[in-house]
Amino acid sequence: MRKKIIAGNWKMNLGALQVAQLTEGIKHGLEKTNPKYEILVFPSFVHLHMTVEIFRETRVKVGAQNFYPSKLAAYTGEISCDQLKDFGIQYVLIGHSERRQFLLETNEFLNKKVLHALSEHMLPMLCVGETLEEREAGKTFEVVKEQIHKGLKDVPLEEVSRLSIAYEPVWAIGTGKVATPEQAEEVHAFIRQEIQSLFKPEIAENMSILYGGSVKPDNIAELLAKPNIDGGLVGGASQKADSFLALLK
Ligand code: 13P
Repeated sequence: MRKKIIAGNWKMNLGALQVAQLTEGIKHGLEKTNPKYEILVFPSFVHLHMTVEIFRETRVKVGAQNFYPSKLAAYTGEISCDQLKDFGIQYVLIGHSERRQFLLETNEFLNKKVLHALSEHMLPMLCVGETLEEREAGKTFEVVKEQIHKGLKDVPLEEVSRLSIAYEPVWAIGTGKVATPEQAEEVHAFIRQEIQSLFKPEIAENMSILYGGSVKPDNIAELLAKPNIDGGLVGGASQKADSFLALLK
């Protein structure tokens, strides 16, 4: 069964007070949310503990925005999957365009993260997407294909079902310029086809592929109505309780 997920990526946008208000706000509005969708939030590392505590015994899952692909070892400033598992964290984001762009994470390094997260029994979410320049040059499918093939190199068939994908066109992130449902669906269908060519039809059929990039309460329904769009990975609109709850309805 394909999991439906609405995920909030809080990025490095919030201080502790804002996280406290946001999490309490979300918690109080949970009865009115759509039970068909899994709810997931990605706070900064420093807010993981408080977020996990506030959402304990609710249906909100907490994931991590990053990790370093190694067992416990001497990597100053990094966080391992073992450490995340101490908090009950399973979901981890990999390959967000902000990390590709600003932290210079390559497809090869992201592949290490995917393999490591899977070997640690985590639930990795691999983000892919083209820049505006690439879209305008007609390279969307080429870029996404390379990100998928390199990112998922050597992933064992028996582990791949724990992976999900987020398609986030870079030109739509934080710009207010959302992809049309048709533009998004076209790429999602393409990603599913690539997953099928790398693995098996039932793996592709069951894989959750989320859309991200300027998802808002007024555009989410038409995106989710598309057959290959299984949820949303939301930045800005997930960082206010009112708008996140409106998305979750
Ligand atoms: P926005 O929803 O703010 O465009 O951000 C999308 C995103 O980057 C989620 O990971």
